[in-house]
Amino acid sequence: MNEAETIRYHAAQNGRPAELDLLDQTKLPGTLTRLVCTTIDQTYDAIQRLVVRGAPAIGIAAAYGVTLTPVSADANASLSDAQALYRQTIDHLATSRPTAVNLFWALDRMRAIVDGFSGEVSELRKQLATEAIRIHEDDREMCRAIGRNGAPLLADCKRVMTHCNAGSLATSMWGTALAPMYHLHEAGHTLEVFADETRPLLQGARLTAWELHQAGIPVTVCTDSMSGSLMRQGRVDAVIVGADRIAANGDVANKIGTYPLAVLAKYHDIPFYVAAPTNTFDAELESGDLIPIEQRNGDEVSYPCGTDAPRQTPEGVAVVNPAFDVAPAELITALITEKGVIPEPNTEKVLAHLGA
Ligand code: MRU
Repeated sequence: MNEAETIRYHAAQNGRPAELDLLDQTKLPGTLTRLVCTTIDQTYDAIQRLVVRGAPAIGIAAAYGVTLTPVSADANASLSDAQALYRQTIDHLATSRPTAVNLFWALDRMRAIVDGFSGEVSELRKQLATEAIRIHEDDREMCRAIGRNGAPLLADCKRVMTHCNAGSLATSMWGTALAPMYHLHEAGHTLEVFADETRPLLQGARLTAWELHQAGIPVTVCTDSMSGSLMRQGRVDAVIVGADRIAANGDVANKIGTYPLAVLAKYHDIPFYVAAPTNTFDAELESGDLIPIEQRNGDEVSYPCGTDAPRQTPEGVAVVNPAFDVAPAELITALITEKGVIPEPNTEKVLAHLGA
């Protein structure tokens, strides 16, 4: 068994409740430990605290979370009561984090099962578990395809830079931005990767560096503020990141720090790629200005080593902590999805790619 698997699920069996088993990413890289959720509240808390994080992984975890709804196992249980309970869970989990559209996409798939169902409650439970497992399995396929589609774009690169963690830890497996690196690595072409540390929660330093190192891909951590000078020194051939939501015009919301990285890449004439499955697109939003940006607790900035360690900003001084920013489409060389590549994205190309 792979101890580092991001998400595992054990369906309810013989009276034993279903379990959502998560690699606790708040503890990496120091400790490899898992958190088992059997309730909606535990799932909600795990998503909010970033025990599980990354747009696709949040969607998968929430889908499994729906199956943890405590509906009656009684053979005569009322279907409408069970449906009401499931809808309540779906609405609640939808408030856990606002930016990654994969969360709402996955919950909508679960809602469609609940709304379209007629039959016994036990059958509805089974169908919901099956749908969550399918969402998980489909993600694996999509990440694999993103790897295949993105690999040719990086094939001539020696050194690439990435931001945050859009790898295996953020998905079912392979990741999005890291998938082309795994693909090339398997084919014997090893890239060197600069992982931006990604302030304030250090997903790059803690998670991307950890997973690439485990995979034997050479990785070097740099602080976010070093990216520009590394580019100026000619040490970065391409930048590739993931996404939390992509608007119809190709604007991309991703981890805070993505926008300045895209500006720097443009200035230094370095290709800037964004890799994401098509369920990360939100065709209903005309532009990135409409993407809701999560504002997180300022303590994440003031206490970089956790609230048990000394505060690093003066008491009484305000702190801002937006978790994401938006890179406009004009700064993006290409979007990479499981369906292919969208070079120089705009509304027409994005909608055609999505078949919308
Ligand atoms: O706050 P996080 O860690 O959930 O943010 C994650 C990111 O910004 C990732 O780059 C994005 O979700 C893509 S994951 C394949």
